[in-house]
Amino acid sequence: MDYQKSLDEIVNGLNIDLSWEYAAMIQYIQHAAVLRGAEYFAVIDELKEHAEEEHKHAVIVSDLINYLGGVPTVQTGVILTSPSNVEMLRQDLQREYETIRRYLERIRQLEMLGLYDSSQKIRDIVVEEQEHAIDLEIALGIDKRRPVASHQN
Ligand SMILES: [Fe+2]
Ligand SMILES: [Fe+2]
Repeated sequence: MDYQKSLDEIVNGLNIDLSWEYAAMIQYIQHAAVLRGAEYFAVIDELKEHAEEEHKHAVIVSDLINYLGGVPTVQTGVILTSPSNVEMLRQDLQREYETIRRYLERIRQLEMLGLYDSSQKIRDIVVEEQEHAIDLEIALGIDKRRPVASHQN
């Protein structure tokens, strides 16, 4: 295994992650501002909290890229919006699912190189991304529970 090549791949991946953290922060700020309806008051507060957490993630990922010898990007991923409240929440949830997938891959790559200190930083972030996804699933009324099998005595 070529250590430097693997490290370069990780840094490139982290820069993609960073561009999506920027996009997520902006998307949440915009969605929180344009969501309409009394039933969305609590959701608006949640989205504002998500925006602040995406900002913190962007700072952590930028510092990690620098630590690993890369240069943090200033590019942002594509920001989505919609006139529909529900569609905006779906856009946010889809992004969270994609983000979780990317970070799990990054954790795997970092740990392949024995960089457990760096992977811990991504682990802490991905736990928060999962909480974001759960908040959005609840807001959208997505119920993933499976019926519990009844006991046969
Ligand atoms: Fe994030
Ligand atoms: Fe998130």
